[in-house]
Amino acid sequence: MISYWYFWRRFTQNPILAILNPKGGSGKTTLALHLAHALSLDSTVLLVDTDPQGSARDWASQAGGNAFPVVGIDRAAALKSTVNQLSNGYDWIVIDGAAKLEEMGAHAVSTAHLVIIPVQPSPLDLWACESLVSQVKQRQAIADGAPTTAFQITRAKKGTNLAREIREVVKEYGLPLFDGSIHDRTIFAKSLAEGKTALNLEPDGEACWEIHHLIKQIKGAFDA
Ligand SMILES: Nc1ncnc2c1ncn2[C@@H]1O[C@H](COP(=O)(O)OP(=O)(O)O)[C@@H](O)[C@H]1O
Ligand SMILES: [Mg+2]
Repeated sequence: MISYWYFWRRFTQNPILAILNPKGGSGKTTLALHLAHALSLDSTVLLVDTDPQGSARDWASQAGGNAFPVVGIDRAAALKSTVNQLSNGYDWIVIDGAAKLEEMGAHAVSTAHLVIIPVQPSPLDLWACESLVSQVKQRQAIADGAPTTAFQITRAKKGTNLAREIREVVKEYGLPLFDGSIHDRTIFAKSLAEGKTALNLEPDGEACWEIHHLIKQIKGAFDA
């Protein structure tokens, strides 16, 4: 996995992650909020909500100032310059992607150092990522391989082989896949509804373990 990673040290900026998938309901916001929370345990984090629906902003108002800051950017053309400016003030920036907004997706791809594509283990969901994968590859072709991009299986159902089968299909896209699946767990949805995350509600639970397992791989990619 690590061998795929782009040599991050060329970036003088703090790391910018983007959680992208053009399909609504693929788990972007859930993953973005959990990753941002996990990173905020020992670093400063800003979450940038690019979805006009503003779910991450709604979550933040529910959290009532007890969490990392969340800002909204709805103008695709403003994303890169705004995020680049903001990145001086935070150790990490996490961009929560918008559904169906090709232009926003393209700007997020050109802004981020690491793109994470959360995908549910179903061929339909994987096929829906085709346009994003081409955007990423076009960008990588002109930007010296950046952004590093990998799939993360999410909402995997316990006791099915689908996640394993999907791993085979993902290979056809020629992009790496993070180790370990994030499973379909009530705690992910329940905690967000309360303006919290699974890290607050069950810090020693399996959901947290899955998030920390991904965080370890992300930090490994940035040597952080
Ligand atoms: N790992 C998970 N386990 C259980 N429910 C999940 C999980 N990930 C996402 N969900 C639920 O799926 C729905 C869509 O997730 P969301 O993060 O809003 O997707 P997106 O931001 O891609 O539209 C929400 O109802 C959310 O609570
Ligand atoms: Mg969302």
